[in-house]
Amino acid sequence: MIRIGVLASGRGSNFQSIVDGIKEKEIDGEVVALVVDTPEAGAIERAQANGIPYFIVEKKDYPGKGGMDRRIVEILKGKKVDLVVLAGYMRIAGKELLEPFRGRMINIHPALLPSFPGLDAQKQAFDYGVRVSGCTVHFVDEGTDTGPVIEQTAVYIGDCKDAHEVSERILPFEHKAMRKVVANFSKGKYVVEGRKVRYEARL
Ligand code: GRF
Repeated sequence: MIRIGVLASGRGSNFQSIVDGIKEKEIDGEVVALVVDTPEAGAIERAQANGIPYFIVEKKDYPGKGGMDRRIVEILKGKKVDLVVLAGYMRIAGKELLEPFRGRMINIHPALLPSFPGLDAQKQAFDYGVRVSGCTVHFVDEGTDTGPVIEQTAVYIGDCKDAHEVSERILPFEHKAMRKVVANFSKGKYVVEGRKVRYEARL
């Protein structure tokens, strides 16, 4: 059973996919903390509906460098979190947050990395005109969406009429990939060798 901490900024549908994976016993774990960086995050209502403790940590309350990340680490460590999931968390994890959880922090990105890193990945893919995009679950490192790739799903977007449609098409695949990777973390370990990631199930 793993103790999961989720960081989110928005509606929290990826967070929900983890909660559902636990309920449906695909994931052997518990979400012990949701941290959001804005009181507007829809993820909060999902936490409330599922009895998950949540914490609002706003940048304005931690103006100095690293202060906000240190507060988040304090929360996650206080909850003895094994795995940190960035699920639509719209901030870069600074070294204060990254170091204590290196190798135990993952992110979901709505494109096939290394294509279209950073913000508005679905719009980047649409504007570029690629026929296939998708989603990537990867370890977090100090770069922007540059960590070793854990899981990817390709999605055909060639007939999408706008970036919104691309987002809608990719989203359910994000949920599946997220669930699968968190489930795997709960039942084994990912071994990182350079840029390659290999999974070892617990026997
Ligand atoms: C997802 O598309 C995620 O990949 C991106 O932001 C979106 C968050 O959606 N980085 P949600 O808050 O999980 O519903």
